[in-house]
Amino acid sequence: MDSQTKPLPNDVPARTVTNFTASRAYRAEVHQRIPGGAHTYSRGDDQFPELGPAAIARGLGGRVWDVDGNEYIDCALALGSVALGHAYEPVLAAVREQLALGAAFQRPAAIELELAREFLAVTPGAERIKFAKNGSTVTTAAVKLARAFTSRPLVAFPKNHPFYSYDDWYIAQTLTTNGIPQEAKRLAVTYDSTKPETLEALFAAHPGEIACVITEPTEYVGQRDEAIREVQRITRRGAALFVLDEMVSGFRAGFPGAYPALGLEPDMVTWGKAAGNGFSFCALTGRADVLDLGGIKQAGAPRVFLISTTHGGEAHALAAARAVLVEYQTKDILGQHRRITAAVAAGMRRAVAAHGIADKLEIHASSWRILVVCRDGEGKVSHGMRTLLMQEMMGRGVLFQGLFLPCYSHTDADVAGIVAAFDASAQVYRHALDRNFDTYLVGDAARPVFRRYNGCKELCPSVPCPNEPRCRNGSQ
Ligand SMILES: Cc1ncc(COP(=O)(O)O)c(C=O)c1O
Repeated sequence: MDSQTKPLPNDVPARTVTNFTASRAYRAEVHQRIPGGAHTYSRGDDQFPELGPAAIARGLGGRVWDVDGNEYIDCALALGSVALGHAYEPVLAAVREQLALGAAFQRPAAIELELAREFLAVTPGAERIKFAKNGSTVTTAAVKLARAFTSRPLVAFPKNHPFYSYDDWYIAQTLTTNGIPQEAKRLAVTYDSTKPETLEALFAAHPGEIACVITEPTEYVGQRDEAIREVQRITRRGAALFVLDEMVSGFRAGFPGAYPALGLEPDMVTWGKAAGNGFSFCALTGRADVLDLGGIKQAGAPRVFLISTTHGGEAHALAAARAVLVEYQTKDILGQHRRITAAVAAGMRRAVAAHGIADKLEIHASSWRILVVCRDGEGKVSHGMRTLLMQEMMGRGVLFQGLFLPCYSHTDADVAGIVAAFDASAQVYRHALDRNFDTYLVGDAARPVFRRYNGCKELCPSVPCPNEPRCRNGSQ
């Protein structure tokens, strides 16, 4: 099926990106070679419209080019990890310099201590740091340290937040538990971050058992700073450790993260994504008495096998992180982020108001990111309508999945391109509200990453299906 089989309404500007030949060929082969077709489920084919890129060939600044040569303004930037820009020269220069010296050695690379010094110098309250390649490694390390420090078994986290780790302590609480022993489910407890009293109830239900609370410091919708401060107070009262995950908010909501301005004093903080501008760099920072449990100098103390990986200190990724720190300390990166975000949010709001659909395409903007919640004609949150919005944005040269995050390299022309594409897409959206997303969407609706089954199953649970009404089985 191609775009020609589902004509757009006459009053809508035509799509400009229409050739997905190489993308189709890529999709046809990749699942025969790579399970999932990607190395992050949120990058998979089931998260994108059929009329969209299957793979990216290259990026520069705030733009990327797909395998067909189509150009897009990038709104998601490698799951938020590129906050300066693709192929950002000052970072590349630092990486090249380190690459010429070698990538890895039999003893630590000297740059490890240099970066440790520099990162800790800008991170209030942090006395120790460990490096890693993935965010899950550091969130899981924080959980392990908290368990060792408190001699308690449970970790608590907000169930309404999107993601904390691909390790069992987290995934056991999702719908996708195949391959995880049942017992793992008992090792974590969850609460609602918008209702701190639900965390209070957890501490009451599990006295002396919760080792730590791990949470992002910010919300996607309806940020209430007092709620996270209350979470910290409850955690302290429960004598558990307070762990902040700044994987997404770090180097975006503030520098180095959101917590200093929120007046929070976490015991440990996890970092990643923007801290490496796309290079594989993550870190765990925190109190000396907690992180030193993973050290080798504490005579007589029980050892914690903390983070021990061949590539955790990969020298050129650390060089990238050093260069990122310099950029944030010498340029107004966050000022530019905020300017771009405000301009995109204003343009999006103008578009939904002009088309009379502000209650169906909800724009939730903070100073540093924008989330668009897509509702159907009845006001229900709809993956089908969101996929239609993605299709129309990508068809007009904007790689957008409902979330906008800025990068320092985004230009005013990028803002104008995003807003123009959003305006045209909102027109299609309005037409679809009277009919159905199926009228204009080519291919399937995107599906939740966490689901029990891949395709249609009679056994599937009665969770609302994003493919309704096409899939009568209500498949998840
Ligand atoms: C808040 C948060 N924590 C942890 C992770 C895991 O990071 P990684 O994908 O680098 O393992 C993510 C990934 O999206 C995240 O958003």
